[in-house]
Parts: sequence; structure tokens; C-alpha cells
Amino acid sequence: MLMNESNEIKAVEKQVYPFALNNIPYSYEDLEPYIDKETMNIHHSRHHDAYVNGANKGLQDFPEPHNKSSVELLKGFNDLSTDLPDSARNAVRNHVGGHTNHALFWEIMAPNSTGEERRPSGELSERITETFGSFDEFKNQFEAAATTRFGSGWAWLVIDKGELKVTSSANQDRPYMGGQTPILGIDVWEHAYYLKYQNKRGSYVSNFWYVINWDEVARRYKAAR
Ligand SMILES: [Fe+2]
Repeated sequence: MLMNESNEIKAVEKQVYPFALNNIPYSYEDLEPYIDKETMNIHHSRHHDAYVNGANKGLQDFPEPHNKSSVELLKGFNDLSTDLPDSARNAVRNHVGGHTNHALFWEIMAPNSTGEERRPSGELSERITETFGSFDEFKNQFEAAATTRFGSGWAWLVIDKGELKVTSSANQDRPYMGGQTPILGIDVWEHAYYLKYQNKRGSYVSNFWYVINWDEVARRYKAAR
């Protein structure tokens, strides 16, 4: 289920049921050589699409969550009615979570035409240095979170009570469920890297720095504050 061109990816966090797969704001091959075209294709058109369909299927018979946006559902996950069966709760946690996680992931990446690692600038850069001591120390912590997350999950840079924090989560759990707002995230499920990197998750994580769209991360940082 693809939305038409006029529906921006940013709208995903405000989407209500029925959810729709958003377009990626660049072509599948545009993140080469860091993330390959085939991985992007399968990841978006099959994995992400499956989360969208899973969310819609799981919630179709339960109107209570239909008037809440994806992010409202995740933020309020612990307050969902106990009348909702586990299947519907799992549809929120796993599939609405998966949908919004992937939407963020596509948007916080962008093609790299210079072959150089990108760094944040301005206020976000200053805040990262102030919080972690240096950009390199932030990078170390983020890479450690991504490489040590056991099994499937995500590593995040979040805002938690006004402070920047590096964290990670299992499966498709979203920092929103713990009251945090994610501004940067990397998918470390094997489907995100296995075709190109096989078991070398660390190499995939190291190359992530080349494709981060720091302008978008900064936009999310400002919006979340
Ligand atoms: Fe994924």
C-alpha cells in the first residue's frame, strides 16, 4: 500500500489507522556503496510493507485505537484498554512500532556524494559535545549500543526529559513507549544488512555515519524540544 507523492514521509508519525507505506525520499540505489540497492528494496517494499499490513490487519476489528496517531498509540501503549486482546496490543507494539521506526530510518539517511563521513553542525553538534564530551565519544557509545544489542532491535539517539541519551531497544519497541523521543536510529535487524555485510554488523554500523542526514536529525531535535 503506497501513499501518493503528496504524502510526505513526515506524515507517518501523524498517521491514523489505516496506515500506509510511505515513499523513501531517494532511490533504493542512492545509499550505495554503504547500503546496497537490493537491501533497500527488500527492506522497504517487503519488510516495512509487512509492518504496515500487520498493523492494519491486527487493528481492523478494534475501533478504539483508530482515532489515535501512530505516535500517540506508542506513547500511550501502557494505557491501552485492557479490553484489547493481545493480538491488537501486539499489532501496536510490533507493527505500528515497526512502521514508525522504519519511517524515521529512511528519513534520517540521505545519499552521500562526497565520500566523507558527515557530522552534525550548529546547536545539535554543540549539545552532543556537551553531553558526551566529544563527537567521537558519542559515536563510540552509539556504535556500542548498535553492536551489542542482542538479536534484533535498534540503537537510538533520543531526547529523554530534555537530555540527549544513547539507548537501544529490542525488536520493534520504540523509545516513545518509555517516554523518550527518538531523533536518530539505526536498524540492526539482520534484514537491514545481511545481504551486503553478512555477520559483520560492526562494518554496517561503521558505514552508517556516511549516510546520516544530520539536517533531518537536527530538525527532529528542534521539534522534540
Ligand atoms: Fe528493518
